[in-house]
Amino acid sequence: MIRIVSKSVKETEEIGKKISSVLKGNEVIAMFGGLGAGKTAFTRGLSYGLGFEYGVSSPTFAIVNEYNAKFNIYHFDMYRITCEEDLYSTGYYDYIDNGVLVIEWSENIEYALDDNAIRITIEHGNDENIRIFSIEGLDEYENIFS
Ligand SMILES: Nc1ncnc2c1ncn2[C@@H]1O[C@H](COP(=O)(O)OP(=O)(O)OP(=O)(O)O)[C@@H](O)[C@H]1O
Ligand SMILES: [Mg+2]
Repeated sequence: MIRIVSKSVKETEEIGKKISSVLKGNEVIAMFGGLGAGKTAFTRGLSYGLGFEYGVSSPTFAIVNEYNAKFNIYHFDMYRITCEEDLYSTGYYDYIDNGVLVIEWSENIEYALDDNAIRITIEHGNDENIRIFSIEGLDEYENIFS
């Protein structure tokens, strides 16, 4: 597991951008961490790193936003997804392996996550701008953060 501390929105975007540089195009990136953790900020940086420069917001009502860049990016917000039937109707299972899936509120679909999903948990630190990232599934690329 990789642990990184972010001190600003910009640093969080930068973490997303760094991770984008090692993606092959079919990853599932499952994000954990409640309201205002920085999941969307991270996704904005990741998408920017893949060449999508138009900005990113939480797809709360749409459930999934698609961004076309180096890879297709499927940005999910699972906040309102409470059962497998809901999940199925988002198209989640069809998107898998057809692009990079970035998932906010993965807490709600934990049962549907594959073992090789990249798991990112964001926790608050002591100061209001501190976020602690715990990243599982990218240990072999730890050098991108140094
Ligand atoms: N280090 C930091 N990284 C990211 N965001 C930060 C940081 N410090 C403060 N913030 C603030 O936290 C908020 C993060 O918002 P963001 O929309 O990315 O969260 P989110 O996890 O997507 O929330 P939601 O679950 O509501 O979609 C912003 O208001 C941002 O200014
Ligand atoms: Mg969000």
